[in-house]
Amino acid sequence: MCGIFGCASKQGNAAKVIHAALKRLEYRGYDSVGEATLSEGKLFIKKDSGKIDEVHEKLNLDDLPGNLGIGHTRWATHGAPLQVNAHPHIDCEEQIAVVHNGIIENYALVKKELEDKGHVFRSKTDTEVIVHLIEELVKQQNLTLVEAVAEALKALEGSYAIAVISTLEPDKIICARNESPLVVGVGENAVYCASDIPAFLPLTNKAVVIEDGELVIITNDGYEIQKIADLRLVKREPKIIDWTPEMAEKRGYPHFMLKEIHEQPLALRNTLRLQEHYLELMTTFLDRAKEVFLVACGTSYHACLAASYMFSKLAYRATYPIIASEFAEQHGKSVNIESTILAVSQSGETADTLAAVEAARHRAATILGLTNVIGSTLTRVSRVYICQQSGPEIGVAATKTFTAQLCVLAQLALRLAKKRGKVSQDEIDFLEEKLEQIPNIVENVIVKQEDKIKQLARKYKDKREFFFLGRGISTATALEGRLKLMEIAYVPAIAYPAGESKHGPISLVEPGFPVVFVCPPDETRKAVIGNIMEMKARGASIIAIIEEGDEEIKNLAEDFIEVDKGIPDILSPIPYVIPLQLFAYYMAVERSHDPDKPRNLAKSVTVK
Ligand code: M6R
Repeated sequence: MCGIFGCASKQGNAAKVIHAALKRLEYRGYDSVGEATLSEGKLFIKKDSGKIDEVHEKLNLDDLPGNLGIGHTRWATHGAPLQVNAHPHIDCEEQIAVVHNGIIENYALVKKELEDKGHVFRSKTDTEVIVHLIEELVKQQNLTLVEAVAEALKALEGSYAIAVISTLEPDKIICARNESPLVVGVGENAVYCASDIPAFLPLTNKAVVIEDGELVIITNDGYEIQKIADLRLVKREPKIIDWTPEMAEKRGYPHFMLKEIHEQPLALRNTLRLQEHYLELMTTFLDRAKEVFLVACGTSYHACLAASYMFSKLAYRATYPIIASEFAEQHGKSVNIESTILAVSQSGETADTLAAVEAARHRAATILGLTNVIGSTLTRVSRVYICQQSGPEIGVAATKTFTAQLCVLAQLALRLAKKRGKVSQDEIDFLEEKLEQIPNIVENVIVKQEDKIKQLARKYKDKREFFFLGRGISTATALEGRLKLMEIAYVPAIAYPAGESKHGPISLVEPGFPVVFVCPPDETRKAVIGNIMEMKARGASIIAIIEEGDEEIKNLAEDFIEVDKGIPDILSPIPYVIPLQLFAYYMAVERSHDPDKPRNLAKSVTVK
């Protein structure tokens, strides 16, 4: 997730406006920043790695001439956070500049074709192909800038919100979107484009939301929306935005956590666009290893637990999920050169996870990393790492980064299964197709169930403790639902594999005791129904997360939340955890706690 901004102003210095707007977009990424402006037929650029304030102190981002320009704040995905990879990126002739938020999936192929035609690339980013492709189309086909941008976008696959400026047509910014957010702000003396409304809200409250497949030509006195496919005109009037500055930061949501829960469909789509190369490399290491440990803390550990079921069921690969703080004590002596450690950490900086990695490195084990932060310590100590590309997560409770971790791990399990010839091609095709549908399924759960979950939170808000139970891979979902409720709503809760509940925990149950069952219709369903009966017999209030239309469990439960039909069991934690995230969120709100800042917790735990 990056932030883009553009400003076409009738008077004054665009650079200063862009700099201030990028500060307001900093929550979208903060490992590099850059600006480009046009003045007297020339392109001016300043960019570097580092936080906006650091780069400004070094380069003075306000000191660029001209009243039209673009800017970018970066969250690295392709290419390390270095000066050369910072946006804007420019063409060979230094006439065109582009900023981009998203991922161009076919960039390697396009880059090769452009290099064969003589284009020289400066960065390791996917973005740079956009600007060279526009240059190629302008030069070779004599297209206008708008035509060239549209043609270039037709040749590119992936997600983007882009803004392009050029000395060839210095009075305009051309921006466009596919699956990455883009809004236009219409001021008295200037028109803006941005990844998000807060970027221009202090300047204007008139906003036009741009849709997928549209481009916009922005000048200092207006905007024109066209379809990328055929440059057909689209009429859309600005809307008045009445958000307070605080609401604006959270895009109108009351809390970052709720915003991040709602961002999951988009975050998952990005995670489905990971670079093949890294997935393949990591799969090779997982295949070759004599033993594989999945090491993490908190929510990331729950992703590891779910992954151990995925690897075993799909690829017949036994893996050992282990809480990082226990790793050295339990396996420190036996881990060796033939062991592989897949460390999973959203932040890449969790002290317990890094300590486990250090212990394993010390004994020459291979370290693989899955993280959300390129440039984090975990990426530096890993032989291979994958960046899950969820964008910054501000809420202390991990939500969108959990489902994205699951999505990456599922992709790895699928590849491993393929490599090992353990499942038929038909099954692989089916699972891949289902994985592609997961972002939409998650969206459906949010849209269809949020109101009901809000009411459930109202009903159960005064309960003093909860059980979360599931079998098989749903044990991980149950554990994650419990952690969310405990950490933000401060409700003590117990989570167990449902089969284990009768070996002790059931003694806590008395009439009215709330028990949340995670029950997708997998092989465990029959046994789960047995466990529901045991709890019901003792007067428990059953809240079941079920597949749409599961009448049998509906009849047993006091309350139920439905998830779309047809989700394979190994993918079920992704949609089935969504109701639990929302339930924890609304319980916290009902109990008057701030879900974004739970007491005693930090987003990244850097002490052991
Ligand atoms: O950054 P990490 O994924 O390594 O963080 C691990 C845990 O500290 C983290 O998941 C924590 O449990 C969250 N508060 C969960 O919401």
